[in-house]
Amino acid sequence: ADAPALDFQAIPHPAPVPGETRRQAIADPGFGTVFTDHMVVLDYDEAKGGWHSARLGPREAIALDPAAAVLHYAQEIFEGLKAYRHDDGSLALFRPEQNARRFNASARRMAMPELPEELFIESIRQLMAVDRDWMPDAEGGSLYLRPFMFASEAFLGVRPAKQYKFVLICSPVGAYFKGGAKAVKIWVSSDYVRAAPGGTGAAKTGGNYAASLVPQAQGIANGCDQVVFLDAVEKKWIEELGGMNLFFVMDDGSVVTPPLTGTILPGITRDSLIHLLREEGLDVREEPYSIDQWESDATSGRLVETLACGTAAVVTPVGRVVGEDRDFTIGSGSAGQITTKLRERLVGIQRGTVADPADWVMRL
Ligand code: PLP
Ligand code: COI
Repeated sequence: ADAPALDFQAIPHPAPVPGETRRQAIADPGFGTVFTDHMVVLDYDEAKGGWHSARLGPREAIALDPAAAVLHYAQEIFEGLKAYRHDDGSLALFRPEQNARRFNASARRMAMPELPEELFIESIRQLMAVDRDWMPDAEGGSLYLRPFMFASEAFLGVRPAKQYKFVLICSPVGAYFKGGAKAVKIWVSSDYVRAAPGGTGAAKTGGNYAASLVPQAQGIANGCDQVVFLDAVEKKWIEELGGMNLFFVMDDGSVVTPPLTGTILPGITRDSLIHLLREEGLDVREEPYSIDQWESDATSGRLVETLACGTAAVVTPVGRVVGEDRDFTIGSGSAGQITTKLRERLVGIQRGTVADPADWVMRL
């Protein structure tokens, strides 16, 4: 059902950011506040046969009718992936076809049209060809790519829209957490859940993140960096953080991560870490793990490390867990051995300094 490839129209930028201003902006970019000069836009119209009018142009505001469906019923999905610079100067993506596939899985759940995988990848190629000079020089820097799609049709009835926009923007980034790779503190949300069985938890759709903001604010008010969500039914099983998956490392070298039951995001970093750990001979089990077990295993020393992972966070150690009626430390409270090794291996593969074990890296 893939549409024929579209030609991308190039719209010249009237006033790209001057080199010196750009270099200052990317010297210490933080996460998600600096943006490159260009963006890609594709339009979808059921009446016009689907995707059309692909263009690469200046990054600019998007005009929307006030009745655009996304503004009312949140029919929206997004992805997040990074471009890295290798030592030979080339740019590389990490498993971008997985992001394209997950984007379409999210689209199906939100009753939106799929985007052919090659258009997803081609959009990234187009944008990177003009904005590659925005790559931060500092170690750990990358270009965070944010593809998203939303319902643009002006219509107030509740049904899937017939018109959409796909947009790709790019943000030069450093570390997601201010402390870099230092251990983070996690807040256990007992009041709120993120996703319920049958809901949209496995889709990367804005509403899941909107629902996480109040518990995230509670976490921050309690001195934590991120929130861990428990399952909606028993309020017992650990699911994931607001924007990262979790792994638990035991003292016998085995590793547990919550299973993909439909309420958590199937992370591409998660999948890659499972592969790398198994390759190193470790026993990785995708099975439910409860919050009480986590606390008792951490306290007894049976659990030695916990790590959070995702595109933005890479691999980040979890040092401490705090909730209404709990407060416990994981291991020494700082990065453990397996977490550190795994982070170095993954980052090395992404940046081209360590052998790529499964054809994960796509050179642009
Ligand atoms: N879980 C959630 C809710 C996320 O937003 C993300 C980030 O994309 C992840 C997990 C990790 O997914 P990935 O490793 O594909 O970035
Ligand atoms: C990502 O890692 O890409 C995320 O989506 C996490 C966060 C920025 C929402």
